[in-house]
Amino acid sequence: MTQWIPVLKGLATYIPGLYTVMARRKIARSGDAAYYYELWIKHLSLLWASGMRSMPKSMAEFGPGQSLGLGIAALLSGVGHYYALDVVLFESPDKSLAMLDAMIAMFHRRAGISRPHTPSFDQYLDANRFPSHILTDERLAESLAPERIALIRAALMQRADKHSTVSVQYIAPWHDNDALPNNSIDVIISHTVMEYVVDLDNIYKTCSGWLNVNGWMSHQIDFSSHDITHAWNGTWAYSNSAWKMVTGKRPYFLNRQPCSQHISVINQSGFDIRCAIQNKRTDGLSRHQLNRAWQSLSDDDIQCAGLFVQAQKRADATLNY
Ligand SMILES: C[S@@+](CC[C@H](N)C(=O)[O-])C[C@H]1O[C@@H](n2cnc3c(N)ncnc32)[C@H](O)[C@@H]1O
Repeated sequence: MTQWIPVLKGLATYIPGLYTVMARRKIARSGDAAYYYELWIKHLSLLWASGMRSMPKSMAEFGPGQSLGLGIAALLSGVGHYYALDVVLFESPDKSLAMLDAMIAMFHRRAGISRPHTPSFDQYLDANRFPSHILTDERLAESLAPERIALIRAALMQRADKHSTVSVQYIAPWHDNDALPNNSIDVIISHTVMEYVVDLDNIYKTCSGWLNVNGWMSHQIDFSSHDITHAWNGTWAYSNSAWKMVTGKRPYFLNRQPCSQHISVINQSGFDIRCAIQNKRTDGLSRHQLNRAWQSLSDDDIQCAGLFVQAQKRADATLNY
């Protein structure tokens, strides 16, 4: 079942200049203010449903991609300090400021989220599909006050006073577990990033290290082939050596780790899982169509196209795993 076009595309990444053009075209297609606003509302509402009961003071995000939009939405909701960590540098200050202005308007009118989400998600929103039980009028009056917006604007332009109650730090590329101090962050978020991270053990332990005790993490993980193959789970049709060719010289690529592996590593990294919502699909490749290396996956993994997982750092989590 190996398809060869993905292999050829992978090999093409070795041609100087070609990959940059391919990547740029992809980047130009994604993300507007509404997209990031909705991502934030989704992570926040589910964190609240999982038990988080105060607005985090500090938040880190892995893999913001081409925009700091999710972090900007968090700052406008009352988060004070935002750290964005990516392996590739994407964002420009001009785009952030445009995103900020668009989002301020959305928060002022309490814009409801419009994208189709799982029906069960509606229970966490009001009739206008806005989380008014979390983003109350009182909370938003404070977080959207003109003097606070000025602080957010200055932080996005890297002109914030170092003692400011609002700060933004964009660290790209990041590789070092010391990028942030241990026990310093209230919440860590990622959206369709963990499926790319090569060393899951390291990333979840890093999360555990950086988070304050009882701090939260919230990750949307997409196990699909991201349209690289026809079948949504077609990445498991490749042997490890063929997959190296598909990966080519890309700076990051799908790690092909299944749902159960994420759950297991999170459990071993000092977390209690509070929410694990799976997106199941039965239309993909069946077990006998997978490469031998992946045929021992459980049925649950073979059918799991996505996982929304939220976990809380245990009080007894140690930094010495
Ligand atoms: C599919 S994009 C998602 C971007 C954004 N979160 C969104 O939802 O639109 C994946 C992002 O993960 C980043 N990424 C990949 N590996 C990473 C790692 N180890 N640490 C941080 N970011 C990573 C990529 O550079 C890219 O920005």
